[in-house]
Amino acid sequence: MTSLTDIWPAFGLILTTPRLQLKPVQDTDLPALLDAARSGIHEPGRNPFGVPWTEVPEEELGPNMARWHWTCRSTTTPEKWTLLLGIWHDGEIIGCQDVSARNFNFLKTVGTGSWLKQSIQGRGLGKEMRAAVVSYAFDHLGAEVAESEAAAWNEKSLGVSRSLGYELNGTYRTNWGPKVEEVQRVRLTPETFKRPDWTLKVEGHELFAKFLGIHQEAKGDIPTRRDGGPSATYARARLRPPVGSASPTRAQRRSPSDRSGAAGGV
Ligand SMILES: CC(C)(COP(=O)(O)OP(=O)(O)OC[C@H]1O[C@@H](n2cnc3c(N)ncnc32)[C@H](O)[C@@H]1OP(=O)(O)O)[C@@H](O)C(=O)NCCC(=O)NCCS
Repeated sequence: MTSLTDIWPAFGLILTTPRLQLKPVQDTDLPALLDAARSGIHEPGRNPFGVPWTEVPEEELGPNMARWHWTCRSTTTPEKWTLLLGIWHDGEIIGCQDVSARNFNFLKTVGTGSWLKQSIQGRGLGKEMRAAVVSYAFDHLGAEVAESEAAAWNEKSLGVSRSLGYELNGTYRTNWGPKVEEVQRVRLTPETFKRPDWTLKVEGHELFAKFLGIHQEAKGDIPTRRDGGPSATYARARLRPPVGSASPTRAQRRSPSDRSGAAGGV
């Protein structure tokens, strides 16, 4: 019988660390994820997200969260994808870690964002979940750069980045909702990555990578179609070079991290 994973192979991906399991959020997980968010993510008035999705009237949080998860799934293609991974710890969903990319086969760059319920922050779990997705991106997807960002005051988020070896990559000034923020960009490569002392367990990678059309050719190779011409993805990437508004940095700034129920920057 056909399973949901046969239809949507992303649902088969499971990343396991010593204390956490990261799996794409399914609809049946949304109520528990909403409860985790409702339990509190940050101090009131201290919004850490590009879109202040936690600061909406109580009754809007659930529909907005569902909308964001459905949007990310329905707009996922090899050219542009956002994977929203639920974080399970001791059998309970405690937050969300996203990883996203645009023109991945061309740019080999991912962006990340995350949140954890407040009661469980500060125990190294935020670092563990980011180390998981970055390890997956570098070692399995073949990413060459991982980018992220956080409000310049967000020491918890920047603490995770610092601890994993991210380098500062400039700041910009913007408004998050009505508030003006100084945002710190950060950047990690396989060379600067301070790897964890554990090895990530990965299940469901092959089908996931195939689903997203991810090529893992040797550096410098141009992916080819069966007829020998450039692949459709590569051809499209060449037609839309990553400049200006099409750059992953800008796109990611407004995509995974910023929306409701996803993550937030770093
Ligand atoms: C950001 C977040 C995911 C980090 O997770 P966490 O579990 O709190 O962080 P960890 O306990 O894993 O800390 C990881 C590192 O950051 C450091 N760190 C944490 N808080 C810090 C602080 N206030 N100042 C300096 N460093 C800090 C830790 O010392 C640790 O580094 P180390 O291993 O080298 O000692 C979590 O705090 C969170 O969800 N915050 C609210 C939402 C948010 O801000 N999301 C990111 C938006 S950009």
